Amino acid sequence: MAVPFPHLFSPIQLGNIELPNRVVHVPTDISSSHADGEVSERDIHHHADIARGGAGFIIVGATTPDAKTGRPTVTCLVADGDNYIPGLARLAESMHRYGSKCAVQLQHPGRQCAIPRYNTLGANDRVIKIPWSAGHEIVYENAEEKGKQIREASITEILDLVDMFSEAAWRVKQAGFDAVELHAAHGYLLSEFMSPVLNRRTDRFGGTLENRMRFTLAVVDQIRKKCGKSFPVLVRYSFEEFVPGGRTLEEGVEIARMLEQAGCAGVDISQGIQESAGAGFDPMQYPQGWATYAAEAVKKAVRIPVITSHSLRDPEYCERILAEGRTDLVGLSRQLLADPYWPVKAQLGRLKSIRKCISCLGGCWQESLMAKHEIQCSINAACGNPEFAEMRRTGKPVRVAVVGGGPAGMEAARIATERGHQVTLFEQAGELGGGMLYVCLVPGKEKMRWYLDWIRDQLLDLQVDIRLNHAPTVDELREYDVVLNATGAESYVPEVHGRADLVVPFEDAMACPKVACECHPGGRRLTKLGQRVLLWGDHYAATDTAAFLGAHGKEVTIVTENREFAAETEVIHMYVLRKRFAQGDAEVLASRPYKHAVTVLTGTRVLEIRDGGEVVLEDRDFNQATVEVDTVVNCHTRSKVGLFQELRAAGIHVLNAGDAVRPRNLYHAVHEGSAFGLAVDEHMLFNPNHAMINNLPIDVLSQLTRPEGPAYSRVLMEEQLRQLTPTVAAGSRGHSNGER
Ligand SMILES: Cc1cc2nc3c(=O)[nH]c(=O)nc-3n(C[C@H](O)[C@H](O)[C@H](O)COP(=O)(O)O)c2cc1C
Ligand code: SF4
Repeated sequence: MAVPFPHLFSPIQLGNIELPNRVVHVPTDISSSHADGEVSERDIHHHADIARGGAGFIIVGATTPDAKTGRPTVTCLVADGDNYIPGLARLAESMHRYGSKCAVQLQHPGRQCAIPRYNTLGANDRVIKIPWSAGHEIVYENAEEKGKQIREASITEILDLVDMFSEAAWRVKQAGFDAVELHAAHGYLLSEFMSPVLNRRTDRFGGTLENRMRFTLAVVDQIRKKCGKSFPVLVRYSFEEFVPGGRTLEEGVEIARMLEQAGCAGVDISQGIQESAGAGFDPMQYPQGWATYAAEAVKKAVRIPVITSHSLRDPEYCERILAEGRTDLVGLSRQLLADPYWPVKAQLGRLKSIRKCISCLGGCWQESLMAKHEIQCSINAACGNPEFAEMRRTGKPVRVAVVGGGPAGMEAARIATERGHQVTLFEQAGELGGGMLYVCLVPGKEKMRWYLDWIRDQLLDLQVDIRLNHAPTVDELREYDVVLNATGAESYVPEVHGRADLVVPFEDAMACPKVACECHPGGRRLTKLGQRVLLWGDHYAATDTAAFLGAHGKEVTIVTENREFAAETEVIHMYVLRKRFAQGDAEVLASRPYKHAVTVLTGTRVLEIRDGGEVVLEDRDFNQATVEVDTVVNCHTRSKVGLFQELRAAGIHVLNAGDAVRPRNLYHAVHEGSAFGLAVDEHMLFNPNHAMINNLPIDVLSQLTRPEGPAYSRVLMEEQLRQLTPTVAAGSRGHSNGER
C-alpha cells in the first residue's frame, strides 16, 4: 500500500543516529515530574503515548542542569545529580519501546525562573515584567505590581554552569537517550546571552555575536568532550526576536553556521523571546507555516538537519515543505498534546480523525504552566491524565441523556458512547456547537471551528442519537438512567437605572450578516448596532465581542467593574488583542487595523442608561461621567440551570457540566464533559455531594448494592450455618464450644 506522505515517513540521519521518520516532538515542558524533578509515572505515560503515536524523534522538554538556581516550571525535570539517571533511563526506555529516538532538552531558565522566584540569574541586572511567562512575578490579590529583580551572572557562575550543563548531558547519555539539545531560545538564560537586545554585558560574554555565542558554544564544546564527539548535540534558538534591536534574519542564519562549525548535529529553529510573546507562543491568530521561511533560509546555509516548528497542524502541509526541501524535519509541540496519534493517523490516511490543536493555549499554558499545574489540553482531556488509558467499554450499557450540544455535552456524549452506553444528545438549536458557534465568528478565532468539526464528525461516526431543535421536558427525561445538564450560559442584564430594555445581548451583536446559514439553518434575529458601542461586562463574552465589533469598524468602549479587564482570559491572546485594540498587531501578523482604537474603562460601573444614548458611568472614587453612545451591548453571563433544578427536584439522576456550572471556557467544558463520560456506569451511585462515583473497590460496591440482611446475632449465624451444611455446621459448633 502506498504511504500517503512519503517524505514525512522517510528516515533521516542525525549525526550518528537514524531517525525513523521526519516528525519531531519539539521540546515541551509538561511540568509533571515529582517535586524534586525526578521522572514521574505521568512523564512516562505522556512520552510513551507520543512514542506510541509514532513521532520519529522526541525531544523531552526543558530539563534543568541546576535546580538550585533555575527551574523553568515548578515541576520540570531535573538532571543535576547522578541520582536522576535511573528515572531518565526509564523515560528513554518508554519511548524506545515504540521505535522513537529521543533526546532531552537542557535548559537554564535564567530570568524566567519559576523556582527560585526571586534573586534569579540573568545576563544583566534588571527588573522585568512578563506576565505571560511561567516564571512571572507573582502579584498577590491586593499588592501592587513591581517587577521581578534579576541579577547578573558572574564569570565564575557562567563557568560553573558550563560544567553543570555538560554533566547533565553526560547523565542524559548515560540514561540511554540518543541525543541532547540545548535550549537557547525564548529569552531563557542561553538565549538571553545570545540576544543582541537582552545581553548588555561589556565583558567577553557580551557585545559582538562571537562574544554573545561564547557561553552556548562553550557548553557545546564541553558536552562533546564529556559525551564524545559522536553523541549528537542540537541547539534550539530563536531565529528572529521581533523587538527593536533584536535578532533578525541575517544573524539567525549566521548562528546556524556557527553551530554547525562547532560540531552540532542539527539545529532546531524556533522564534521570539518573551518580549515578543505572540511569535513565541503562536496563539490562534498565527497561521500554519508562518515560521517556515526561517528553516528555508537556514537550510541554504548549513548541511546539518534543520527542524522547523510553530503552528504546524496538517500532514499535507508538512509533507509539502519536506518535499520542497524547505526543511528536513517538522516539529510539533501542542499538536501532540491535542493528539499524540497524529503521526500514525497521518500514515494510515485517517486525516479526519486528527484532533487538530486549535492554538488556544487555554489548557497547556493557562491552566497548566501559568497556574503551576501539570500539563493539560483544552480539547484533549486525556492529555496528562493516565486515567484515560484505563478507559474500558462497559459490560452493561445505561441510557444517558445529554441536554445541550455545546462542547461539554458533545464531549460527554462522545466518551460515554465510546464506552458503550446508549446516548441521546438533545440540542434546542438547529446545530451542534453552543457558544462555539459565536466564537468561530471572531476574526482570529476561526481555528475553534477545527475542534467543532472534529467532534461533530466523531459524533456522526459513532452514530450518536442526536435530536436537534429539541428541548426535552422533565417527563421525557425520566426514561433515562442519568441526565447530563450541559445547557450552557446566557446573557442577563444586571440591575441598572433607566432603559435596561435598550440593552442588546452580546449573542445578538456577535452575528455575521447572514440570516440563515449552515450554523443557523432556521435563520436568526439580527440586531442593527449603531456606530458607537458601549460594551458592558468582562471576560470571554466581552473580549470576543470587542474583537468582533472592533474588526467590523465599530467604535468600542468597554466598561467593567473589575480592577483588571479580562483577568480570566488566556494571557497570550490578550497580548495580541491589546495590540489590536491599539490599532496595531502582534509580531509577524498583519491584520487590517481596527478603524477605531478600543477603549477599556476598568473599575467603572454603568449607573444609568437614558433615552437618546446617554449612559452614566461611575468610577471607584464615585466620580460620575456621562458618555454618548448609539448602542449598549451587554456581556454579563450566567448559567442556565432551570432544567437542572427541575430534574433534581423530580428525583432524576442529573449532573451539571460546562458553562451550566459557571460560565468559563472550552477547557472546562471539555474536561467536565469527558469526566462525566468516564464516570457513567451501570450502578448509578451518587455520593452525598451529588457526585457520581464509580471504580469502587468490589467489597465497597457490594456493601453499597447487595440486599442488606438483619444485623449479626449468634442465633442467626447458627441458623445460616445450619441451612448451608447442617452436619459440618453442627460438628464445628461442638468443637468450638469445647475449646471455649
Ligand atoms: C506547554 C508548553 C511547554 C513548552 N515547553 C517548551 C520547552 O520546554 N522548550 C522549548 O524549547 N519550547 C517549549 N515550548 C514551545 C514549543 O516547543 C513550540 O515552539 C511552540 O509551542 C510552538 O509550536 P507548536 O505550534 O507546535 O506548539 C512549549 C510550549 C508549550 C505550549
Ligand atoms: S490547550 Fe489549546 S493550544 Fe494547548 S495543546 Fe490543547 S488545543 Fe493546543
